[in-house]
Amino acid sequence: MKEIVIIGHKAATAPFSLNDLPGAAGRMDILCRCVSSALFLSHDLRRDVRVHIILKGPPDEPKAIRFDGSSIRYLSPDERSSASLIKKALEKNVRNFWMESTPGVSIRKGDFGNILHEINKKVIYLCEGGEDIRGKRLAGTFDDTVFVLGDHLGLTGDEEKTIEEYEHEIVSIGPLSLHADHCIVLLLNELDRKEYLNRNVQSGEDDYS
Ligand SMILES: C[S@@+](CC[C@H](N)C(=O)[O-])C[C@H]1O[C@@H](n2cnc3c(N)ncnc32)[C@H](O)[C@@H]1O
Repeated sequence: MKEIVIIGHKAATAPFSLNDLPGAAGRMDILCRCVSSALFLSHDLRRDVRVHIILKGPPDEPKAIRFDGSSIRYLSPDERSSASLIKKALEKNVRNFWMESTPGVSIRKGDFGNILHEINKKVIYLCEGGEDIRGKRLAGTFDDTVFVLGDHLGLTGDEEKTIEEYEHEIVSIGPLSLHADHCIVLLLNELDRKEYLNRNVQSGEDDYS
């Protein structure tokens, strides 16, 4: 599983209107686009990706919602579709452990630190000032890695300190500051290429490095 965590600093923690995702729902639109970018291929899903969104907005923060590509149902690529699954999850009486709200979507009380602790893998923090991903020798399967991104506010100093508690690397996707969902598309494309290369390196087929 490739694990991705995105932090929504203003994202609503109670059911919200699907008609105002950027405003009243606290930039929920960003998280919805991230979910879609992480899970959708053309006419298929990335079944080896799990996305965690951390909701840190009022009124009942923090909560975490997990989308599991291996079992997700009722999700289509548009923002409103992921928003409606998030809203359904927020209708549950949330506790300190994962509860499934719809197939492949689960929710729990918990903040960024709780989720990193639970995943307990090496952290790759995507950040504009990081080391270029193209120069990096990333491992072959990425099962031992969790990728972390911020929303429009980036990451706070405290969140960066939480990352420092783990083995971690700070990696840049390119020279410009990009939208988080675009970073996910580019990141997964890099990983696709590395996996493709690893699979084909012995047979001498196409080189996507
Ligand atoms: C719109 S950016 C955040 C901008 C915010 N103003 C800041 O200063 O962090 C959203 C997130 O996308 C990721 N990101 C954006 N551009 C990136 C880049 N070139 N390389 C790696 N990650 C990037 C980071 O995780 C960032 O927190």
